Amino acid sequence: MTHFLALETSCDETAAAVFTDDLTVKSSVVASQHDLHTRFGGVVPEIASRAHLRNLLPVIDEAVRKAGISLSDVGCVAVHNTPGLVGALLVGVTAAKTLSLALGVPLVAVNHVASHIYACRLAAGKDIFPCLGLVVSGGHTALFRCDTALSLELLGGTRDDAAGEAFDKVAAILGLGFPGGPAVEREAAAGNPEAFAFPRAFADSGRLEFSFSGLKTAVLYACHGQNVANAAPPGPGQKRADLAASFQEAVVDALALKCKQAMRQTGLTRVAVGGGVSANKRLRAKLAETCAKEGAELIIPPLSLCTDNAAMAALAVEKWKLGQFAPPELDAEPNFI
Ligand code: KG4
Ligand code: ZN
Repeated sequence: MTHFLALETSCDETAAAVFTDDLTVKSSVVASQHDLHTRFGGVVPEIASRAHLRNLLPVIDEAVRKAGISLSDVGCVAVHNTPGLVGALLVGVTAAKTLSLALGVPLVAVNHVASHIYACRLAAGKDIFPCLGLVVSGGHTALFRCDTALSLELLGGTRDDAAGEAFDKVAAILGLGFPGGPAVEREAAAGNPEAFAFPRAFADSGRLEFSFSGLKTAVLYACHGQNVANAAPPGPGQKRADLAASFQEAVVDALALKCKQAMRQTGLTRVAVGGGVSANKRLRAKLAETCAKEGAELIIPPLSLCTDNAAMAALAVEKWKLGQFAPPELDAEPNFI
């Protein structure tokens, strides 16, 4: 049996995991940097890179210890080298290359977005391909046709903000803090999702595209009127809860509608959902309802596998089986490739 040590540093979580080539996850450790970024209302790339530098070695130590192995038992090193913040990715890539060289074991590079879908494979405990993949994170909102774990064909993505980014920006408008997704979800629990008629972009078009920046602006104007200059965030109250609930409903509706259209257009009857926004309970419920109506199987991983982690990099096992190893000159690639 081969033990894999995987690293994730693409954004603001420093993570390491140990898994075996039969996809048993032995440990998964995530050190979040949310506290460092809260006062800026978003991830500050330089702060993220420096925090990865501080956190990565202790996180690796903990992952190896919790897996009950030692570094010399590691037979392959895996790393997310794309997409993400380039300085943040570089920390993980450099550590992974160094470990692979020092241990004399192969290095496998995996795509973070593909790994979010592979988290569903881990959660399902069985083969899930072919499937429709929906990735909804802070950096990406896209639908893929996934014939295998490694072949993702982009069906459509966002024209502007990612869904998670919209949650984070609306949380900032409403004064709810960072990261915005969980904060908006909590606020929305007391609100009326029909209080504000926010837009669902491309609803009347069959195009598998998303757009959330107009929605964000609609929330801004509904909150403050047209006079937004220097407007302070609203205080707690029914209006704030209604804004959060109506915004969340608009995002969830758009995602569920495009999933439905994608299923009908591709004929795929299994939907795998990944990325931080898939932690959202309203989204989970709405997708469950949509898939049930379409007679499709829905796979959404548990929360620990939805937000950024290194266990989902078990996608590396698929590449390792095919002998697809990364060269020693592997680089970080910020854009989705
Ligand atoms: O996948 P992820 O951990 O990191 C990226 O690869 O971007 O996703 C982070 C995003 C953030 O924008 C965060 O606000 C959002 O996922 N998120 C949520 C929830 N939990 C996290 N959005 C909506 N509802 C949630 N419960
Ligand atoms: Zn992610």
